[in-house]
Amino acid sequence: MIRAVLFDLDGVLVDTDALHYQAWKELADRLNIPFTPEQGNRCRGVSRMDSLEIVLERSPRAYSPEEKETFAREKNARYQAMLSALTPEHTTPGAAAVLQTLRKRGYRLALASGSKNAGLILERTGLGRLLDAVADGTMITRSKPDPEVFLTAARLLEVPPAQCVAVDDALAGIQAGRAAGMGTVAFGDAALHQAGDHNIQTLEQLLPLFPAQEERP
Ligand code: BG6
Ligand code: MG
Repeated sequence: MIRAVLFDLDGVLVDTDALHYQAWKELADRLNIPFTPEQGNRCRGVSRMDSLEIVLERSPRAYSPEEKETFAREKNARYQAMLSALTPEHTTPGAAAVLQTLRKRGYRLALASGSKNAGLILERTGLGRLLDAVADGTMITRSKPDPEVFLTAARLLEVPPAQCVAVDDALAGIQAGRAAGMGTVAFGDAALHQAGDHNIQTLEQLLPLFPAQEERP
């Protein structure tokens, strides 16, 4: 029996993946390195430093660890400046209503995001109050496709992984959910690759997958 739904954040509940792409693209442009949407898609779900490696992979020169730290800080400052304009209107269509309906149907809900900015995004969008637990990039040492963040979310909810379903827009996220022993729902980009057990393009398409259990207030 499925008792919990674990949501990725960037690209699932909020369209922040486009902001990540824009902030990395500005850095790549400044460094005169080509950076394509295909590379941007590979940054989905992976950590800030692993994303930077993808951004730098077409660079003719190598950079020191110190330079890479500086680049990551620069990108994050730009990204956070973009986040300061986030409001509840920037959530993915249907996000708050779908979370509310799943809660009412008796499911436990958690965030499972590799982002260290998740707390800020949940606060600015108002989504935090609809979640029972939050596992984010500040709590893990290994990013997706490692299952750590999904297993952390399940542990916080006190629900066994086999009774959880992971919802993610990244191929790395679907791999992570599967490695955690969970069912998977691919959304958006990952769904185009038919990566999940179920593949959806709108959040409302989650509702038929999770019928009502016990009602909760
Ligand atoms: C993931 C995003 O949710 O978080 C990645 O899909 C991002 O693109 C990762 O690199 C880390 O995010 P942050 O906000 O800690 O830089
Ligand atoms: Mg994502």
